[in-house]
Parts: sequence; C-alpha cells; structure tokens
Amino acid sequence: MAAPMKHNASALCRTYLLYFANHHVDFRISELVALAEMFGIDLPTESLKTHDKECPFLNLTLTSEVQAKQLASRSVLIKSVIELWGHGNTQEDLFQDLKKSTDLMVPYFSESSSLKVIVDGFNRSLPQKYKIQIIEKLLTDDVLPFKGRIDLKNPEQIYYYLEDFGRQSKNAKGDPQHIYFGRWVADGNRDEIQNQLVTKRSFIGNTSMEASLSLLMANLSKVQKNMLVIDPFVGTGSILVPCAYHKAYVMGTDINYLLLHAKAKPSRSNQKERSPNESIRNNLAEYGLESYYCDILVADASKHAMWRQPEIFDAIITDPPYGIREGAKKVGREDPQGSLTPDQKVDHIPQKVDYGLSNIFNDLLNFGYKFLLLGGRLTYWFPVHRADYKEENIPHHPCMKLMSNCEQVLNKRISRRLITMEKCQPYREDQYLASQTNVDHYLNASFRDMYFKVAENAQKSSKSEENLQTNKPP
Ligand SMILES: C[S@@+](CC[C@H](N)C(=O)[O-])C[C@H]1O[C@@H](n2cnc3c(N)ncnc32)[C@H](O)[C@@H]1O
Repeated sequence: MAAPMKHNASALCRTYLLYFANHHVDFRISELVALAEMFGIDLPTESLKTHDKECPFLNLTLTSEVQAKQLASRSVLIKSVIELWGHGNTQEDLFQDLKKSTDLMVPYFSESSSLKVIVDGFNRSLPQKYKIQIIEKLLTDDVLPFKGRIDLKNPEQIYYYLEDFGRQSKNAKGDPQHIYFGRWVADGNRDEIQNQLVTKRSFIGNTSMEASLSLLMANLSKVQKNMLVIDPFVGTGSILVPCAYHKAYVMGTDINYLLLHAKAKPSRSNQKERSPNESIRNNLAEYGLESYYCDILVADASKHAMWRQPEIFDAIITDPPYGIREGAKKVGREDPQGSLTPDQKVDHIPQKVDYGLSNIFNDLLNFGYKFLLLGGRLTYWFPVHRADYKEENIPHHPCMKLMSNCEQVLNKRISRRLITMEKCQPYREDQYLASQTNVDHYLNASFRDMYFKVAENAQKSSKSEENLQTNKPP
C-alpha cells in the first residue's frame, strides 16, 4: 500500500480519501484521471504513481471540496469521498493523528450539527458490538468532542471510520493494516449502474455491454453535454445509453439489419420473437433520453466513404466484433472482379466476407483519426491472449495518443483491454491510413477458438479448480 500523504489543515489544500468499490480495480486510476481532466482538476501525480492498484483507498490532495464532489458526481468506481481527518496503522496512531486536525474539525463540533458515524471494514465484516465500541471510543472529549446530537436518519454530517484489512485473503483475520477517519463529502455515481441495468431494457442482445462498463467507457472518453458520439459497432446501443444520459447526442452503425430491425433471434430465453418496439431509439425513450437520439444506420463500419465530412465526432466509443459470440464480417465479394447488371442491383443484398481482427482495429483507428475532432477520444475493447500480450501489440496510429489501457480478465488465457486514445494531430490525407497492428494474436487460432478451448479445459479439469469463467464473454 502507498504511504498515505500527510494533510496540512492550515493550507488551502485538503486531503480527501477516495474509497473505491471493490471491482474493475484496473480501471480506477484511468477513470479518475479522465474525470479530473474533464473538470480541469490538477491531480497530485505522485499519489497516483505510487498507488497500489488493488488498494481501495486513495488519498488525494485537492484545492476544494467542490473538486472532490465533481469527481464523485461522475465516477462509477468511487463508492464515497471522505475529507480525511486522520489515519494510522493502529487506533492509537489514528487518535494521535486526529489531534493534528483540530482546525479542520472544530466547526463541526458545535451543538447545532447533528451527526452519524459509520464504521466499516474492507475485507472483513465487523460485528455490530465492535462497531458500537468503536463509536463510543471515538465520541469522547479526548478524541472527538462533538456536542451535536446523534441522528441516524437525517444527520447533518456523516463520519466514516474505516478499517482496511488488506487484500491477501478474503475476510482477513488479525488487526487492520490501516485505519481512516473523516467527514463524508459525497458518494460516487454508482446508483446509475442500477438505473441503467441492461436487463431492465426492452432491446437487449447477447453482446450488450453491462451498465458499469458502458458508464466507464463514457467517462474515459470524457463524454459531456452537447457532444456528438458514435458507436460504429452499435448492436443494441448499450454503450450509447450512458452517453445520452450525459446529454451527448448519439448515433451508431451496425451491419446487422435483422438486429436493428427487431427481426433477429431474441436473446431472452422466454421470448419467441422480438417485438417491433425493440430498438435503440425506444431504449433511450424508456430513460427519457430520446431527444439525444440522432440516428442508427445499417452500414458497414469499414466503409468510411459514407461519411462526407471529416472531423465531426467528439467521441467514438465501441465494442468491435472479435468473434466469440458472432464472427466479424464486412461487405465485400470473394470474387471482386464480378460486377452486377443494373437489374441485379435493384434488390441486391451485398455479399459479406470475413473481417480480420487487425483490419477491424486498423480501420477503427483510421476512422478515429479522420472523423474525430482534434482532442476527441476513441475508446474501444481490444482482445488479448494474456501470455503474448505486450503494450506494443496495441494498435497504434501516429496521430492518436494512447491515454489509458486497462485489463478486464475474462479467463486464465484471455482478457480484453479497454483502450482510450486521443486524436492529437489535425486531419491530413497522407496520415489517414497510418494505423498499424504489429501482432495479430489470432492469425492461427481465432479468439473464439482460444476462448472456448479454455472453457472446455476448465470443464474437464476438477471442479475444485479455480473458476475460470470470471466474466461474461463479449
Ligand atoms: C460486440 S458487438 C457490439 C454490441 C453492442 N455494444 C451492443 O450494445 O449490443 C459487435 C457488433 O458489431 C456488428 N458488426 C460486425 N461487423 C460489422 C461491420 N463490418 N460494420 C458494422 N457493424 C458490424 C455486429 O453486428 C455486432 O452487433
């Protein structure tokens, strides 16, 4: 664990304790950095560099409470933000440390300020009796001489006493490794995950993105009011929902006519056929967000010529097809020489050919470079064979800067990485097709084959073995 920074009550800056939810740990700092950039907040880079990514506590020095509230208002990984009054490895250390924060605490000791104290443990559930003992120790004249009354239902101030039992084993035994105390400032935006649960929507598919990840993607792309956002592999539009929720205008393309027209096989097991109102537009309407719907086109994302105007999108956010649930296809002909007669063209349904993984990502980066506004962001998932992974395998374009790269482990061998890039050069024709993907992990075996090979092996091996399928496949 990184050594917590000391706070200085007399300075303008105050230390805030970010208490993260215990999932998507690899994404915490990337989300925080993107949100800080969005709100124009300078983050203390040293705290971020030294932070152990597994640790759910991060001390941050900020210049105002407003900044702490801004970060929390958008974050889906922060549970709560607490103004840190003291911390230490033992209760005695904590109580000593609290004595240094008198300036900070005195205004809250007054009789008129009602309060509630929450005692919580990370990696250990604390018995009620123990919690009461802690509160009794804290609320003494020697430690915290609060004069206000306790109000459990509607307190003016909430205080947190948090014991960190480390991350070595579940429900760790022994003493806490570190203890924090402070005043609650704000909760993160995690309620929105429940509000946007995919299963509550009319239109869903096998590859709809779960709400926490879609919200995270919107944050990494810094989606804000009045932006224009596109998902070129839009499917059921799950990634567009949080973008519209943040008041951005949204559009998408998908090659699957049947899916977009509610004629594809339903993904709910109790449903025989899709109902005609299953659409991305209707999903947005269910959230009261229809006014942010621009359009959804049945189109092949590899065909950039359909867009007349370069540099139009503020963000491109997508989950490209990488062939676990469905093979990637693009419009093309096995026999490119053949041509259609005018009669044949009338009802012609174009042929499709396989869309190789490197081509998908090169096309996507080239699309980003040409059609993003300068400074606009491209956020996408990239599948990875974990043993072969190196950062240089990530697709790159000389005019698209890598901003963040976070791993979501899918099973022992396979993960996907959420990549965010920013367009850092204005569009020039001679740089348009400059994207490169150095290594194609999947030339010899498809991602799908590798994914299911692991799943099969897991089934064969003993039941007591580690549960390999940690996450829903894409
Ligand atoms: C992983 S899914 C994305 C799912 C989506 N995020 C959702 O919310 O449902 C990939 C999507 O890309 C579409 N797709 C495959 N090849 C395409 C292409 N060449 N152009 C556009 N869309 C394509 C598939 O039809 C599929 O809906």
